[in-house]
Amino acid sequence: MQEMIRVDNLEKIFYSQSYMEIKALTEVNLSVPGNEFLCILGPSGCGKSTLLRIIAGLETASSGKVFYNGQEHTKPRREIGMVFQSYSLMPWLTVLDNIALGLEFAGLSRPKRISIAEEYLDMIGMNSFGKAFPYELSGGMQQRVAIARALANNPEVLLMDEPFGALDAYTRIVMQKELLRIWEQHKKTILFVTHSVDEAVYLGDRIILMSGSPGRIKKDIAITMPRVRERRNPLYGKLTEELLALLEEA
Ligand SMILES: Nc1ncnc2c1ncn2[C@@H]1O[C@H](COP(=O)(O)OP(=O)(O)O)[C@@H](O)[C@H]1O
Ligand SMILES: [Mg+2]
Repeated sequence: MQEMIRVDNLEKIFYSQSYMEIKALTEVNLSVPGNEFLCILGPSGCGKSTLLRIIAGLETASSGKVFYNGQEHTKPRREIGMVFQSYSLMPWLTVLDNIALGLEFAGLSRPKRISIAEEYLDMIGMNSFGKAFPYELSGGMQQRVAIARALANNPEVLLMDEPFGALDAYTRIVMQKELLRIWEQHKKTILFVTHSVDEAVYLGDRIILMSGSPGRIKKDIAITMPRVRERRNPLYGKLTEELLALLEEA
């Protein structure tokens, strides 16, 4: 598969209020082929969100470059969508208008926007909630809407920053399944940040393991186990344990 995202020797330094340097990322190199489901796994504070935000063009690198389809890229673009950890829905907009929001920026007419939004509302199985407001929805439903909103823009690449972190265990498993279905059906390239080993093993074609201070890529592991992955499969347990041990070292 053709390379979709490339990260070349990325470094990010933040300056704290007392002008202390915080090296959030160093020597990060990454190549993500089209259609890959890549999981980025690492302990809290190791720079996962920073990496994703730089790839999204929401944050600038201190040095190094990001390429999208072979072109250097530094600003947000429609082809690269992002789903944040908090659902970040607009509380004053209905579910349907939230999903249609990005399409408004793209200059589509209202009937066209609504018709596309309805299609994605259907896809997430929430037809009857189009007129509801975010506060009327459970966390799992809000996150489904946030995913629908990202997908409605039809991005090639979907960046997801711990999107299921706030969900209860059962909803989380349902959403993981759902996301795999969407990914297979719509042929997206997904970069999925998580600190859950189980989640990474369940979802990823490949797992990038990061360690902190400064944040860097420590290991790159291909997961060849066929899907749908069974958690009771001994191989699943073995992989999970190996990764947990590596994460502890990180
Ligand atoms: N805007 C910022 N200003 C200063 N330091 C930051 C900022 N964003 C992140 N950091 C620091 O960079 C490091 C990596 O943060 P982050 O990317 O959020 O990690 P993760 O998502 O893996 O938990 C942390 O030490 C964090 O405190
Ligand atoms: Mg984070």
